[in-house]
Amino acid sequence: MHLEVEVERILPGGMGLAHAGGKTVFVSLAAPGDRLRVRVEREQGNVLFASIEEIVVPSPLRIEPPCPYFGRCGGCDFQQLPYEAQLTTKAEIIRDCLHRIARLDSVPDFAVTPSPDNWRYRMRATWQIDREQQRIGYYERGSRRVCDVADCAVLRPALQEKLEQVRATPWERIPRDLKHLDVVQGENVVSFAPAFDKFQTNELSLTVRGEVYEFNAETFFQINPSLLGPLIDFALADAAGESVLDLYCGVGLFTLPLARRFKRVVAVEANPAAARFARRNLQRAELANARVITATVTDWFRNDRVGPVDFVLLDPPRAGAESAVIKGILDLHPAAISYVSCDPATLARDLKKLVAGGYSIDSIAAFDLFPQTHHVETVVHLRQ
Ligand SMILES: C[S@@+](CC[C@H](N)C(=O)[O-])C[C@H]1O[C@@H](n2cnc3c(N)ncnc32)[C@H](O)[C@@H]1O
Repeated sequence: MHLEVEVERILPGGMGLAHAGGKTVFVSLAAPGDRLRVRVEREQGNVLFASIEEIVVPSPLRIEPPCPYFGRCGGCDFQQLPYEAQLTTKAEIIRDCLHRIARLDSVPDFAVTPSPDNWRYRMRATWQIDREQQRIGYYERGSRRVCDVADCAVLRPALQEKLEQVRATPWERIPRDLKHLDVVQGENVVSFAPAFDKFQTNELSLTVRGEVYEFNAETFFQINPSLLGPLIDFALADAAGESVLDLYCGVGLFTLPLARRFKRVVAVEANPAAARFARRNLQRAELANARVITATVTDWFRNDRVGPVDFVLLDPPRAGAESAVIKGILDLHPAAISYVSCDPATLARDLKKLVAGGYSIDSIAAFDLFPQTHHVETVVHLRQ
C-alpha cells in the first residue's frame, strides 16, 4: 500500500509521525515537515509502519545523508538532519516522553550538550559477520541481514583501521562460528571479543576527570568518550555524604568519583567481568570505601540489606530499571536520586513511578553521546 503523508514530528525511537485515513503512520528516516510518498511495510492495530518511497517536498531541515550506506545500514537514522536539528529533535523527544509517558505537567528547562565530534566519534562497536555472504558490517535496517560496510563514518579512525584489517583477514582465518565481534578502543590499544587470529581481547585504559578506568571488549563502556567528563560532573552534581548506591555500575565510571565524595559506596553490576574491572579500578585508585557486588540489581535488592542511603545513582541499560528496582529504591528513601539513561521512553516510565513515590524532578541535562542517531543520554536529578 502507498500513501502520501506529511511528517509532523520525530517520535521517541526516531520514527517520523504522520496521519492518514484515520491511521497513525510511523515513517523511518524522515525529517519533520517532509511531504512523502511512503510504502506501508506492516500494520499493527491502528499504526502503519512505512518507509520512504519518494520525497515529494523535502522538509526545509532535510540534508543529503553523507554516508553511502545510509538507509540500508541499521546504524545511523538521523543523517538526514543537520547536527543542530538533531540536537533540537532529541530535546523534543525527551520533553515528549516526560509529558506523555511520565505525565509531568512541568519539566525543567534543559539543553542537549553537543558532542565535540559528530563524525568519527565511536570508540566502541559491534560488527556483524555473515560468512556465507562474506559480509562484515552492521545489521540492515529492520532485518538480520548484514550490510557490508567498508567505511563507517562514525567510527574513530583507529577503529576504522581495525575494521579494514578484520575485513582484509582471509575467511579461513575467521572462526566458522563467529557471528559478531565486539571492539573497543582505549587510549593505547584496541580490544576484541571474542579474540581470534591477531585480534586479541586486550585490556585497555581510559582516563576521565583524572580517574583511570581499565576494561576490555567484554565489558560495557560508553561509546563516545568526549562528553564523559561533563556527564559525570552533572550526574554527581554536588552529591556528597555518608552512603551512596551506584546501580548498574559497569567498570565503575561513576563509582570512583562517588567513592571520593561519600564515606561508603555500594555498587551493583551483573556482568562479572565488568564487576572485576570495577574492583580493580577502585583498588588502583586506592579507594577502599567502595564495595562492588556481582548481581542483578533485582536480586541484590531481594537478598541484601543496606543501612540508610543518602544518594542513589542508577544507570540501567536501554530497558530501564525493573519494577522491583524502583520499589527497592523507594523503600530506601534516599534524599536524592540521579537517574542516568540512554532511553528517554523507559526513563520516563520509571520517573513516573519515582514521582508517584514522592520524588520531584529537580533538574535535567542531556548529552549527545550518539550523533547521527536518535539516541541520547539523559540525566535527571530527583529530590524527596
Ligand atoms: C548503561 S550501562 C552503565 C554502566 C556504567 N554506569 C557506565 O556508565 O559505564 C549498564 C550496565 O548495567 C549492567 N546490567 C545490565 N542489566 C543489569 C541488571 N539487571 N543488574 C545489574 N547490572 C545490569 C550492564 O552489564 C552494564 O554494565
